[in-house]
Amino acid sequence: MISEPPASTVVATDGLVKRYGSVTALDGVSLAVPAGSVYGLVGPNGAGKTTLLGILAGLRRPTSGSVRVDAEEIGVLPDTPTFDKWLTGREVVELAASLTGAPADRSAVVLRDAGLTAAADRRVGGYSRGMLQRLGLAGSVVGRPDLLLLDEPAAALDPAGRREVLDLITRLRGQATVVFSSHILDDVQEVSDHVGILAEGRLRYQGSLADLLVGERTRYRVELGTRAPERLVAALGRQRWVAEVRPVDDATFEVEVTDVDAAERSLVEVLARAEVPVRSIVPHRRSLEEVFLELTA
Ligand SMILES: Nc1ncnc2c1ncn2[C@@H]1O[C@H](COP(=O)(O)OP(=O)(O)OP(=O)(O)O)[C@@H](O)[C@H]1O
Ligand SMILES: [Mg+2]
Repeated sequence: MISEPPASTVVATDGLVKRYGSVTALDGVSLAVPAGSVYGLVGPNGAGKTTLLGILAGLRRPTSGSVRVDAEEIGVLPDTPTFDKWLTGREVVELAASLTGAPADRSAVVLRDAGLTAAADRRVGGYSRGMLQRLGLAGSVVGRPDLLLLDEPAAALDPAGRREVLDLITRLRGQATVVFSSHILDDVQEVSDHVGILAEGRLRYQGSLADLLVGERTRYRVELGTRAPERLVAALGRQRWVAEVRPVDDATFEVEVTDVDAAERSLVEVLARAEVPVRSIVPHRRSLEEVFLELTA
């Protein structure tokens, strides 16, 4: 039976498999990208990200499985954008604009947004790797796509360029659905609302970033102005919302809780009853990097 994906997904694959000879690059990937989302695709080298994005872009053919892409205009940035080296940057973007029916003055705007105005009339054969990436980005957005597929859009960029890409993605929110891959997990955590964690051709997680980071448990790190008394550790351990109390050093310990609401109501009270000086109580949120390393280990 073929299950129908919810209507609100822009991209949906079902049981996607891609083999290159004896190498299985994708091993049953069922991707669901909600309309209007910024979907970050992460995974170790060789996980299958480029293969997956290539299939979504129609540049590679799956071995089996189905792909549905509901978009009128798709902008694509491949992992290593290449252009005819005799063309100038402006010509590359104007060509892309003419293919999508974008107005002529739109080219100058995207070249400026990509920081390429000064280099626009140079031949791309002399562009640096980062400049080629900027040009690829300019070309991918010139036709105002409603779906953008970006393979490591910030990989070769300097810090300012990377910031510009993140701002660009943020600006596109609400106007387009964006699927992008990246190894820079802080970037993914900053701009994505949905993530897919791919490892060895399989999706280890897919869903909202917020859900992924909250997880089932949360930790608080408590630092006292004195050595942590045994009776306090024991008192905390007796709370039904406490899973574990772990010492970090003499004055610091971590409390792992199973019920955040209960912890927020009662943790301070338990500490107060122990009459110890409290320096800080810091809730520990999981970072995408932490979860990524856990799921791809
Ligand atoms: N054209 C190809 N021919 C043969 N094998 C390929 C080809 N493209 C990819 N592969 C293999 O498929 C697997 C997935 O590769 P892919 O490039 O999709 O990974 P990736 O997640 O994009 O990795 P990276 O983070 O290094 O960019 C790897 O084992 C790779 O060697
Ligand atoms: Mg890749």
